[in-house]
Amino acid sequence: MPDFVNPFSGMTPDRKMTHAELLRALRMALSAEEEAVHLYNAQADATDNELAAMVLRDIADEERVHAGEFQRLINILDPDEERFLAEGAAEVDEMAEELGGDGSA
Ligand SMILES: [Fe+2]
Repeated sequence: MPDFVNPFSGMTPDRKMTHAELLRALRMALSAEEEAVHLYNAQADATDNELAAMVLRDIADEERVHAGEFQRLINILDPDEERFLAEGAAEVDEMAEELGGDGSA
């Protein structure tokens, strides 16, 4: 589980965040959205109640939208972000190409 240092946890700072602190806060927020996706899907998998599972999966998808918003904002505010993400994506694409697919049986 991600454990980010958060100097402003539980309280509003008495000053505005620096750009670096804002980026850290946004990365923590992005992580929280991914954690929420995991939690809601796990809860949906763990119940026999159809309505509850449907609502939980719908909310999990909404958290994925939030994750996309945070990622896009990070991409705009950190000029290196898209290059690093593209580098990682290219590495996975290369491995997938070696396997001839996504690795599923
Ligand atoms: Fe959210």
